[in-house]
Amino acid sequence: MRRSQTQFDDRPDAAPAKVAVFATEPVDEVQRRAEQLAAQLNLPLVAAYDSAFDMLLTVTNDRLELRFPQSGGPRPLYVDFVEGRHGYARGVHRYGLLFNAIGYRNRPLTVLDATAGLGRAAFRLAYHGCHVSAVERSAILFELLKDGIDRAARVPHIRDHMGDRLQVHLGDSREFLHRLAPDAAPDVVYLDPMFPPTKKSALVKVEMRILRRLVGDDLDADSLFEAARSVARQRVVVKRFSRSEPLSPDLSHSHSDGTTRYDVYMQPARTREDMPAT
Ligand SMILES: C[S@@+](CC[C@H](N)C(=O)[O-])C[C@H]1O[C@@H](n2cnc3c(N)ncnc32)[C@H](O)[C@@H]1O
Repeated sequence: MRRSQTQFDDRPDAAPAKVAVFATEPVDEVQRRAEQLAAQLNLPLVAAYDSAFDMLLTVTNDRLELRFPQSGGPRPLYVDFVEGRHGYARGVHRYGLLFNAIGYRNRPLTVLDATAGLGRAAFRLAYHGCHVSAVERSAILFELLKDGIDRAARVPHIRDHMGDRLQVHLGDSREFLHRLAPDAAPDVVYLDPMFPPTKKSALVKVEMRILRRLVGDDLDADSLFEAARSVARQRVVVKRFSRSEPLSPDLSHSHSDGTTRYDVYMQPARTREDMPAT
């Protein structure tokens, strides 16, 4: 029977996901990595597939993935920039609106992706020339993202093409933004926070439902937006569902495809003295 992807419980009132670490192979290297992750993330380490947990952060021979041991759970989730739908060769078409929204015109922009998640936007922006710092506060998502980037960097073409344009950081972006030295302020801050589901967004992709179950809704998005506005040199871009209200009324313009909307907040021209002190 085909696995149903719809039984995954991401209702807003669902309890936080119970997560453990699991290693698929009795190989020393795999076991050691699982032990390290369990200690570092303060998660239990389980020796067998255990459906008492909602998610298993699983170390395999090849990669790190999130597995769903309960019956009817989604397929494993992992970050892959080499092949598949989010692979490097996929081109920018799906991200055309985002590139327009950040003001990309064949010159290198510095972008702070303050809501890195699975890193799709950050990778695409970096692969196509932007210098990207991506910040994620969920330690589990951060490990999945770092694992995907490390695997991509083992492919010579990707490594040579991207250089060090993508840097990932674990932590809260508000603190990251407040700590930035004035001359390190990015041209663009990009925000794609997890908003509570609306009826209109009921059909969100299973991956976003998994993320919601893992990290919850980003109910502090307003304060992140304020922090972004106090630092960005050129613009702040916020991704939203097309029918959602903008985060702030002083929107400059938007780019929408009818489903997704990128709201652009242009920054007033500012001098170095205007930038927040560290
Ligand atoms: C919808 S996901 C982003 C998906 C991402 N744009 C992508 O392309 O894969 C939102 C993510 O932002 C993260 N996040 C929200 N607020 C944050 C903050 N203040 N600092 C760091 N990460 C944050 C959440 O933990 C979540 O993983």
